[in-house]
Amino acid sequence: MTAWPPLKPRILKTVRALGDARARPNRTWLSGLLGIDRKELGRLLDEIPHLAPLERALRKAHESGGRRFYAQFRAPLELFVMTRATRPDHVIETGVSSGVSSVHFLAGLRRNRRGTLHSVDRPQVQRSESLAAGESIVSVPRGRSSGWAIPPEYLSGWDLRLGLSQDQLPRLVREVSTVDIFLHDSHHTPAHLTFELEAIRPKLHPGSVVMADNTQWTGQAFDRFARSLGARVFRRGRSDLVGLRVPEPL
Ligand SMILES: C[S@@+](CC[C@H](N)C(=O)[O-])C[C@H]1O[C@@H](n2cnc3c(N)ncnc32)[C@H](O)[C@@H]1O
Repeated sequence: MTAWPPLKPRILKTVRALGDARARPNRTWLSGLLGIDRKELGRLLDEIPHLAPLERALRKAHESGGRRFYAQFRAPLELFVMTRATRPDHVIETGVSSGVSSVHFLAGLRRNRRGTLHSVDRPQVQRSESLAAGESIVSVPRGRSSGWAIPPEYLSGWDLRLGLSQDQLPRLVREVSTVDIFLHDSHHTPAHLTFELEAIRPKLHPGSVVMADNTQWTGQAFDRFARSLGARVFRRGRSDLVGLRVPEPL
């Protein structure tokens, strides 16, 4: 495969606005996962600079919440591109925290002018006024809730369900006609990931995109699920964020 040209400066500037270099979009991952060519991907990536004000707002919100950089989900810009590429009716994610993954789905849906993001989160609340040493940055500052860093203009139409995904996800899946994109970023154990993947299985269709983060903690759960669908697993670089696209039946 020929090497990718350097990312455009305006895209890199958008990554810097968020304040986490790991958020540089990974084109190999995106093109493989979405099954799109370089030209189409280039067209979608060119939309990323529109997100610069959002990235600045997120960074500012995180700083005001005592987080120097955000770094909870490393591929937010890819979520925006994916949402633009697949034009989903229903996106489901588990695990919201400050809302970085959520708002990138929401930004894509807003630009598509269709589709709904359904998010499930049982927030973990910060123990004291400021983040204690050793305390997880995924915890929510006191008096705030899941999605606390999301600028208000992105919130309309967001279906946020607070509670354990064990309770919320099966109910939610029954309500939607399809699951077009799914992101697991909640409780990272093999049993829990398997539970979430099996919960969404009935509403998947050829072309649905399914992702799981932090698979270093979830054993073979994702690979097993992919095998059962006959799908290829795409790993984002050397990280443990993985995805698959449900294939057409043979
Ligand atoms: C890694 S953070 C999510 C990060 C988020 N996707 C982002 O972009 O920043 C994980 C979140 O899942 C929540 N969580 C953990 N176990 C859960 C469960 N069983 N059901 C629902 N939410 C859960 C945590 O409280 C936390 O808010």
